[in-house]
Amino acid sequence: MSNEKVTVSGPARQGEMYIKGMMGAKPVVPFDPAKLAAQAKEKMNPDAGGYIIGGAGTDDTIRENVDAFGKYRIYPRMLKDVSVRDTSTELFGVKLPSPILTCPIGVLEMIDDEADKAVARATSKLGVPMIMSNQASFPMEEITAEMGDSPRWFQLYWSKSNDLVRSLVQRAEKCGCSAIAVTLDTTILGWRVQDLDLMHLPFLKGQGIAQYTSDPVFNTIVANMDFGDNPLKLPPDLGVSPETFKAVQTFTGVYSRPSITWEDLAFLRSVTDLPILLKGILHPEDGALAVKYGVDGIIVSNHGGRQVDGAIAAIDALPKVVEAVRKAGSDMPILMDSGVRTGAHIFKALALGAKAVCVGRPYAYGLALAGQQGVEEVLANLMAEFELTMALAGCKDLNEITPSTLV
Ligand SMILES: Cc1cc2nc3c(=O)[nH]c(=O)nc-3n(C[C@H](O)[C@H](O)[C@H](O)COP(=O)(O)O)c2cc1C
Repeated sequence: MSNEKVTVSGPARQGEMYIKGMMGAKPVVPFDPAKLAAQAKEKMNPDAGGYIIGGAGTDDTIRENVDAFGKYRIYPRMLKDVSVRDTSTELFGVKLPSPILTCPIGVLEMIDDEADKAVARATSKLGVPMIMSNQASFPMEEITAEMGDSPRWFQLYWSKSNDLVRSLVQRAEKCGCSAIAVTLDTTILGWRVQDLDLMHLPFLKGQGIAQYTSDPVFNTIVANMDFGDNPLKLPPDLGVSPETFKAVQTFTGVYSRPSITWEDLAFLRSVTDLPILLKGILHPEDGALAVKYGVDGIIVSNHGGRQVDGAIAAIDALPKVVEAVRKAGSDMPILMDSGVRTGAHIFKALALGAKAVCVGRPYAYGLALAGQQGVEEVLANLMAEFELTMALAGCKDLNEITPSTLV
């Protein structure tokens, strides 16, 4: 499939669908987000479904992430001349066609062999920045090779080894990433009931650890690892090759450092000049601390309800974080993810102070249903719906999406 750039226009996309429909075509992926999720679930095997769709505990936060958007109502204005519309924005000096990025999602090989590479091709066609996951299925060098000059960020999990952190960040710089998003909410894995019921964790099969096995520092750790240090007490007969076994065992030993604190951010700052964003901020006091500790941006997120069952919905957390950050004197960009399913959700997030949103599960559902094309369709639909929502609310560009557009 070609990587030729595509510009999305809301009315043109809508018109194209109705005309193709006259010729007997059917949608590549459903437009209705609930149908998209349901069809993707049908297509995935149970292990993939459990991991991709499932969340922590009772899935309470997954539901709340989406339902909470309903509390904020758009207040449309009329007679505003929205004939010329501009959905573009800028983040860290990079122009984006729409205020949308893709969330880092690990282990996409569970649903598509091309995994992150397919996402890279789809996002680069649309000019949507891709946030590559630390738990990707391919090394970042192979993912970015698919992207031309399209914008990309790297998502970091803070390893027990600072040398590994430095190495991953430096590789991301070489891969042309324009920001590092460090995920703070997953220093320990949440209690994921669907995975537990299946007694299944993909990493133990060696899936989702390509950023590690392709890393020279990680491979030195593997070579020098004292295999007495076996945090998950892996039995030797795990059913994987001896090489994978060693990598998995090392990964489970070094992947995360639950002891990190605000003071550790200075280390990350010392190894890169790239903008650093904190992913997983929900509390306004943490927003103020992010200002104090000199980071460059925030992604308000509860990890798609995968970590703390019962956590506040991300859209409810957003306005208070924005208020705290602005009160602390910073105009740093604040993004949000968790629950974004429609163009109206994107509009509401912007009206509540987000600079942009990150789209997660929906693009994974597109990938599961139709590979690269499925990802493209899901993202293009969101871009189109957002543009139409913006126009119909009486706004011709993002500057006009202010708190007064909501009640
Ligand atoms: C299957 C899956 C894997 C994920 N892997 C990662 C990851 O590797 N790194 C990360 O920071 N967040 C990860 N996330 C969280 C997403 O980046 C994002 O916060 C979440 O998907 C937003 O919720 P939503 O998809 O329900 O909108 C993952 C989410 C899912 C669903």
